[in-house]
Amino acid sequence: MSKFVIKGGKSLEGTVKVSGSKNASLPLLASTLLTSQKCVLRNIPDVEDVRLMLQILKGLGSEYSFEKNVVKVQTKKIKTHKVDAHLAEKMRASILLLGPLLARVGKAEIAFPGGCVIGKRSIHAHAYAFEKLGCKDKSTASVLKFEARGGIRANAFNLPELSVTATENALMCASLTGEETKIRMGAYEPHVVDLCEFLKKLGVKISGVGSHTLKIIGKKNLGSAVHSTTSDYLEVGTFAIAALLTNGKVKIENVIPKQLDSFFQKLEEIGAKFFVGENYLEIFPTKKFNPCEIKTAVFPGFPTDLQAPFGVLLTQAKGKSRIFETLFEGRMNYLFELEKMGGRMEMLNSHQAVVFGDGKLKAANVASCDLRAGAAMVLAALNARGVSEVSNIEYIDRGYENFEGKLRGLGAEIERVR
Ligand code: EPU
Repeated sequence: MSKFVIKGGKSLEGTVKVSGSKNASLPLLASTLLTSQKCVLRNIPDVEDVRLMLQILKGLGSEYSFEKNVVKVQTKKIKTHKVDAHLAEKMRASILLLGPLLARVGKAEIAFPGGCVIGKRSIHAHAYAFEKLGCKDKSTASVLKFEARGGIRANAFNLPELSVTATENALMCASLTGEETKIRMGAYEPHVVDLCEFLKKLGVKISGVGSHTLKIIGKKNLGSAVHSTTSDYLEVGTFAIAALLTNGKVKIENVIPKQLDSFFQKLEEIGAKFFVGENYLEIFPTKKFNPCEIKTAVFPGFPTDLQAPFGVLLTQAKGKSRIFETLFEGRMNYLFELEKMGGRMEMLNSHQAVVFGDGKLKAANVASCDLRAGAAMVLAALNARGVSEVSNIEYIDRGYENFEGKLRGLGAEIERVR
C-alpha cells in the first residue's frame, strides 16, 4: 500500500503535457484482437489499467511490446475465448474484451469485471447489444458468457442507454460482418470517436462518427494500422483545477479544446481566469470564485469523471453550490473525505449535494475512494495549508500517468511513501 504525503499551500507554476487517454487506450487495445495483423498504438499512457489490459491480451494469445508509450501488438491466433478471471476481476474495462472475442471466435467468457466502486454499473446495455447482434446470453451469477453459434449478424437497434463501453463493445462486435449494422443511442465521448477512427484504419467502414447513430460495415479480415491515441481531456481538467486551487499559473499542452466545452463553460461561470489556445490551455491566478451548479451528463455534458475534482474547487467559491451526479450513485463519497479537511457540505442523497464554500481547507489524512476521487483528494491537499496524506493511491495509478512527477514539475511538494 502506498500513500502521497503532500505539503499544500504552494502555487503551481509552469507547463505540463497531458498523456494519452486511458479510456481511449483500453478499447483500442481490446480492438487489436479483431485482426491477425500487427497494430502500433502510440501515445498510450503507462498506467496500471493499460498494463492489466496488456496482460489479459497476452493470455488470449497476443504478442506485444510496450516501450516509451508505444504498444506494438499482434494476435495471429486467439488461444482461448476465456479471459483470465483473476485479471478480469481487477478492472471494469475487461468487459471490453467481449465484443472483439465474439466477433473473432464467436464466443467469449469473463468473470464479472471489477474496478472502481462507483455504483451499480449494470451490464444490461452490453448484453442487449450482443443479443441484437445474434449472440446468446449464457451468463451465470459469476461469469459473463456469450456465444454466437451462427456468427455475428448485422442488425439495427437502439442501445438502452448512452453507455460508453457498451457502444464500444457493439462497434467491435459488428466489425467483422459484411452487412450494415446501425447502432442508435450510442455514446460519442472522445474515446468512442477515437476507437471509430482506429477501426476505420483497420478497414471497417463507419459513418456517423461523433453522433449518437453509427453505421458500420465490417470486413472478415481486417488489416494492420498505426494510430496515435487521443489525449486525455480528463487529465486536462484535473490539472486545470489543480492550478486554480493553488492560485497558480499553468500552461497545459496537448489539449483538444472541443472535448472540454462543458468544462470551460463551468470555468467561466465560476469566474476562473483562463485562455483556450488551439491545442493548449492556460490557467491564470484566480483569487475569487463564484458558486455554481454542476450536473453531470453524457458527452458533451459535464463529465462525471471531473465531478469530484470540480467538487473540491467549489469549496473555494464563497456561497452555496450544488452538485448533481446523474450517472453514478457512488461517486459522491469523496465528500465525506473532504469534510475531514474542513469542507462544509450536505449530502441530500446519493446523487445530490450542496457545498457551502468558504475557501478554507485544512490539511488532514484522507483516502482515495476511486480513481477520480483520489485525484480530487490530491488537489484538495495541494490547496490546504500544512501536510496531508492521501492513502489508497493505487486507484490513482490506474489512470493517471506519472501524476506526482507531473505535479512536482509544476512545483508541488508531493512524495510517494510505500
Ligand atoms: N448512465 C446513465 N445514463 C446514460 C448512460 C449511462 O444513467 O445515458 C449510467 C449507467 O446506468 C451506468 C453509468 O452511468 O451505471 C455508467 O455509464 P457507462 O456505461 O457509460 O460507463 P462505462 O462505460 O462503464 C466509462 C468509463 C468511465 C466513465 C463512464 C462515464 C471507460 C473504460 N470507463 O465507463 O471511466 O466514468 O464511462 O463516462 O471508458 C474512469 O475513468 O475513472 C471511469 C470510471
